[in-house]
Order: sequence, then C-alpha cells, then structure tokens
Amino acid sequence: MMRTQVGIVGAGPAGLLLSLMLERRGIASVIIESRDRATIEATIRAGILEQTTVDLMAELGVADRLRREGVVHHGTILRFGGRNHRIDFEGLTGRVATLYPQHEVLKDLIAARLAQGGDILFSAKVTEVADVTTGRPVLRFTDAEGQARELHCDMVVGADGSYGACRPAIPTDKRKDYLRIYPFGWFGILCEAPPSSEELVYARHERGFALISSRTPEVQRMYFQCDPSDSVENWSEDRIWAELQARIAGEDGFRLKEGRIFQKNIVPMRSFVCEPMQYGRLFLAGDAAHAVPPTGAKGLNLAASDVWHLDRALGAHFAGQGMAMLEAYTATALRRVWRAQHFSWWMTSMLHRFEGASEFDDRRQLAELELVTSSRAAATALAETYVGMPYA
Ligand code: PHB
Repeated sequence: MMRTQVGIVGAGPAGLLLSLMLERRGIASVIIESRDRATIEATIRAGILEQTTVDLMAELGVADRLRREGVVHHGTILRFGGRNHRIDFEGLTGRVATLYPQHEVLKDLIAARLAQGGDILFSAKVTEVADVTTGRPVLRFTDAEGQARELHCDMVVGADGSYGACRPAIPTDKRKDYLRIYPFGWFGILCEAPPSSEELVYARHERGFALISSRTPEVQRMYFQCDPSDSVENWSEDRIWAELQARIAGEDGFRLKEGRIFQKNIVPMRSFVCEPMQYGRLFLAGDAAHAVPPTGAKGLNLAASDVWHLDRALGAHFAGQGMAMLEAYTATALRRVWRAQHFSWWMTSMLHRFEGASEFDDRRQLAELELVTSSRAAATALAETYVGMPYA
C-alpha cells in the first residue's frame, strides 16, 4: 500500500505536465502508467504545439530541447484549387505554432519528473478506481512485477487516454457522452525524404484531403484521407506516392519529394466529449475526457489546458480553500474543449471530401476556403485558435 495526495493514472502529456505543476506547489503525486517507458517514448503521435503549450513548458523549465529542436511555424498553407494560400499566424496574432513531436515532449517530461525524484510506476495496470465518492479514493493496480497493490489518495486524476480505466469509473447514468464518428480516416506515412514545404500544407482536393507535415529534416510525415476500414497492406509505396502527388497537384507545379516509406498507419477520426469531467474526487483530463479529429492539431494542446485548470483548482483545495474550484473544473475546462471541438470539426468539414457531397456542397466548401484565406477577420479566427488563446 502506498499513499499520496494526487494519484494520477497515465504518463501521457496530461499526467506528466500535471505532476510537474503540482511539484511547484509542493503537492505530492504518483503516476501509474500501464506501458513501459520505451514504448511511450517511441509511439509516434501528433506534432504541433500551440504557443500556449510551449509557454507552459517553458514556465515549467522543460522547454530547452524544444527551443533547440522544435521548428517554429510562422504560418500554414491551405491548398485548394491547385494553389497555396497562406495563413500568417504571426502577422495575424503575434504568436506561432511549433512542430515538436509528442514523443519528444514525453521524453522531456519523463526525464524532468524523474530528475525531481517523482514517482512514475511504469508497466503498472490499474484494475480498479474505487471509493472516489468518499474522502479516500483508492487506485488498485498490478505493478511491473505482477503484484497487486493499492495507492490511497486524496484526489484521483484520470489521464489514461480514450481507452483507460478512469472514464468507465463514472457510472453511465452520471455522465453524458457526445460522439461523432467521421466516415473517413487518415492514412499516415513516415518517409525518408527532405521536406517538401517549409510550412504544413492542408490540401483540399476532389480526391480527398491530404496533409504534408514533417518530423525532422530527414523524416517527413504525410497523411491522406482514406476509407477507415481500408488496410495498409492494400497500399504499395508506388500507390501511396501516386495518390499523394495527385492530391497536391496543381497549376503551380508543386510536387512532393519522395523517399522510402518506413511506417504506415490508419488513424480513425472522431469527435468525443464526456460531460462532466468530474465524479466525486475523480477528475478526467486529456483524451480520457475528450477526443478531436487531428485536423485542428488540438489533442495534446487540450490535454495541457485541462491540467492547467486542474492544477490551479487542486492548488486551491490543498491550500485549504475547499472544493469550489474543483467543482467548477468541468465548466472551466469544457469552454476550451468545446471551442477546440468546433475548430477541429470545422477544419475537418472544410477540407475533407464527404461521400455523397453535391456540386453545391463542393462550391460552398471552396467559397468557405476563399473566405478564410482572403478575409483578414476570418483568417485571424483560424490563426487564433490554431496557435492557442491564453488559458485565463
Ligand atoms: C502531424 O505532424 O502529425 C500533424 C500535424 C498537424 C495536424 C495533424 C497532424 O493537424
């Protein structure tokens, strides 16, 4: 049996950032994580950090490598009608986005937390989230050696992702799940090639959406809209390049630089919110509470915003100010969550090809892209949400 103030389930961005923030307040926490460290540090996920997330990491003293190796994106490209249209983040908002892959963020956060002497129990599986409606919640888990153990805490934070044990600990009659499943997925590749564009390219094409992103000067990340039930086995390297090239082709002659493809995966697309994000002394954060389609690059950033609010509310509680801020957590966190839900849905609907779309729908979609790339007001609305508004 162990004891701590805040028991955190999940060593993803939400759980790790929260443990670092709580440390600043002198609040003890223990993280229980089902995967091993090497797996977490090798799993390829998203890549874009809001300015807000970068600022938070800098404040926590974990942004040194991010500053050196992260690539600042001053704007992004919306490509349609065979031409590039730039959204100037910096000119419109004074802020930027940073390309720094999630697994690199996680390496930095894990190293920083362990250097503080923080407890992260890897390869430990939570089997029961118990007694969260009492004053003494308990996390029952099996540790890396297979021993059954208990962590007694004052508060539990469920930061264990979409398929973790924490959300199901809220009875279904005490929560409402909002879900939208999109009729397409993203086919993602990693390839050995130089960058094809200095900035990300979000491309709308009659054959479907494509996104040109990057990982390092030598490794590129690209995606194209696909049937979510398709299999990566159906796609040879030649077929993938032909499809990607077709989707970005245009009168300006833009071509992708090709190279050996060494990873392929299909990403499903859904929008999801669980409301409330609290049940007694259990608080959900990040993907445990919500999911967004990747088009808006918001997933990791929302995890950061959730725990920014949670840290303040836990701070107030442990400073003797009671539960009021914690009771307000759902309402406070959900404001940004729903804004990001709208943004991610909007970017998705503006750029993807929908089965059964009429010619009217096509022209309306193009008109929307024209508006966003020609009206300063509309472009600013996109840019502000992409780079992230301040939390408070
Ligand atoms: C990525 O680089 O993986 C990436 C970038 C922007 C997105 C989604 C994914 O909107």
